[in-house]
Amino acid sequence: MQRNPFEEIMRSRPIFKNREFLRHTYVPERLLHRDEQLRQLARILAAPLRGETPSNILVYGKPGTGKTATVRYIGRELEAASASAPLRTTVLYLNCEIVNTHYRVLASLADILLERMGTTSPDLPRVPRTGWPVDEVYRTLLRILERKGGLFVIVLDEMDKLVKRNGGDALYSLTRMNLELRNAKTCLVGISNNLSFMDLLDARVRSSLGGEEVIFPPYNARQLGDILEERAKMSFCEGVVSDGVIPLCAAYAAREHGDARRALDLLRVAGETAEA
Ligand SMILES: Nc1ncnc2c1ncn2[C@@H]1O[C@H](COP(=O)(O)OP(=O)(O)O)[C@@H](O)[C@H]1O
Ligand SMILES: [Mg+2]
Repeated sequence: MQRNPFEEIMRSRPIFKNREFLRHTYVPERLLHRDEQLRQLARILAAPLRGETPSNILVYGKPGTGKTATVRYIGRELEAASASAPLRTTVLYLNCEIVNTHYRVLASLADILLERMGTTSPDLPRVPRTGWPVDEVYRTLLRILERKGGLFVIVLDEMDKLVKRNGGDALYSLTRMNLELRNAKTCLVGISNNLSFMDLLDARVRSSLGGEEVIFPPYNARQLGDILEERAKMSFCEGVVSDGVIPLCAAYAAREHGDARRALDLLRVAGETAEA
């Protein structure tokens, strides 16, 4: 008789304690080797704690250098720190690889905010996924921002994707909002893998977007090793990762422009191979 195929898998020695911690989307509790970038971001984003609006920020670095993880981490800390500050701060995160048109950027921001506020009313309706004139979406977003009030830090991850697709119309709208808002202010944090994407922007947008730059250099093999050690402790069962595994994954990933994502993938696949 054939055995239940799951039985064998469940009987073999478990490798992973929790493989969720090896996924790219996981925001670690502790960021290693990014003290300088955290310090720069915190210096700029501390403004609302003094009641001021921060400058826009452009974050640059190759893939896997920790840009998304670091910005999400600092966003979470900023929201917590601003709970009792003069300018209450809401961080809104968009990935422009997914949300990549002028309409959808504005509609998504409106949507996230209404969801968080838990209210809709005749003057603050949900924006449909398509169909309205863009200007109406823009006006609705402004009304929502005014109603909620405070500072809105809008993170545009993979911002270059947005620029390539529509030449920066969405960015133009977003940089214009502060001129119209009374009870609310916005600050943009753009993240890009591509250092020259600003060249694609039209001069108007470039000058109003311009602000502070924070650069993320590639990790070296030692730094990648530390990042992997930390994740491995959370993801693998005790004693299953033998000595040479992490340095090897770190060395391979360091050769490919110091990419932490690649390093984590290699470690995960090593675990999955051992499991099979
Ligand atoms: N300094 C770090 N400490 C801990 N984990 C990190 C660090 N940098 C990157 N990672 C992890 O590596 C992966 C890729 O990082 P990510 O922030 O997505 O890079 P980027 O946005 O620059 O492409 C994510 O899983 C992230 O959690
Ligand atoms: Mg990223």
